[in-house]
Amino acid sequence: MLYFDFAATSFPKPKAVLCACTTAMETMGNPGRGAYALSVHALKQLFETRAAAAALINAEDPMRIGFTQNATMALNEAIAQIDGEIVTTAMEHNSVLRPCYARGGVRVVPAPKGRLRAEDVINAVGKQTAAVIMTHASNVTGEIYDVEKVGAFCRDRGIYFIVDAAQTAGCVPVDVQKMKADMLAFSGHKGTFGPTGTGILYVGSRVHKVRPLLSGGTGSQSYELHQPDTFPDVLEAGTQNVHGITGLKAGIEYVLEAGVENICAHDQALAALFIREVSAIDGAVIYRRDCRRTGTVPVNFDGVSADDLCEALAERGICVRAGAHCAPLAHRSLGTSQTGVVRFSFGWTTSEADVLEGVRILKELLGTQA
Ligand code: ALA
Repeated sequence: MLYFDFAATSFPKPKAVLCACTTAMETMGNPGRGAYALSVHALKQLFETRAAAAALINAEDPMRIGFTQNATMALNEAIAQIDGEIVTTAMEHNSVLRPCYARGGVRVVPAPKGRLRAEDVINAVGKQTAAVIMTHASNVTGEIYDVEKVGAFCRDRGIYFIVDAAQTAGCVPVDVQKMKADMLAFSGHKGTFGPTGTGILYVGSRVHKVRPLLSGGTGSQSYELHQPDTFPDVLEAGTQNVHGITGLKAGIEYVLEAGVENICAHDQALAALFIREVSAIDGAVIYRRDCRRTGTVPVNFDGVSADDLCEALAERGICVRAGAHCAPLAHRSLGTSQTGVVRFSFGWTTSEADVLEGVRILKELLGTQA
């Protein structure tokens, strides 16, 4: 099998992540609810995971790292903090678009042919704008955006800047201080190699009063009828997924040990190799071919259905994502709403030989010279 779907989730997970989850189930009680060792151990793992996540994104205070079920939940919580207009972009995933459209008051910056510049986002900010929310990298094209430039503008302007780092945390350097991000969300199961069901919301110090997305038990201030407003409890109601979160800690440690810069260079080199090889195929269309990207490359081939090709690739043991990618405006911008794309996304455990073998099989299926 050749796994080229890292933009959807990382696979395989490191052994250390598997062991961490299993050991957690064997050794942990409910975190923060008891004074006995099983409970204290679980609570300690939550704090160690906050510290690891804070190190990964250069957050100033680990207590402002909240656990969520996924990036979607983290983004919903971030968006719920905003009063006033939100400026976002056509390259967003539905995890941003849907909660924005549900609340209303959203202005979307177009991305003709998938091209989105920081200036376009900045120019869309008006008097009513309370926040800009944008992805660090597109899940369709893999393009990495200049979030630092947008963040600096938002900070000067005194409005919030929210970053969706679902496609970058763990595989592209993410620094909330450099980005001037007030809130940043990512899922645990992608670039950080954790289990599904884990996500992170970072809330910076400019966000003083958080409206909790969920209210419930925290193991703290239990006689109080309202959700505590202290961090991290304001972000976390109910028993946390401590088994998954402990796995996430192992995943983040794995990434920190490998070095995010190294992972980024590796993924980009594989994407470049793939682009070079596929460019030589007649009828190949590579979207945002020359952009600065993650390990993600979307392609189509003249006269070939993306869905059929993905199915044929799957039959040959190649895992890629087909069709539409939960980013309707990105597809509209790229002109692929009808066709979708075939998305190859490479990661830390992909080798050059894997990419070349994938291209060989792709050529065979397309009936071109191998
Ligand atoms: N958001 C994930 C993807 O792009 C699932 O595939």
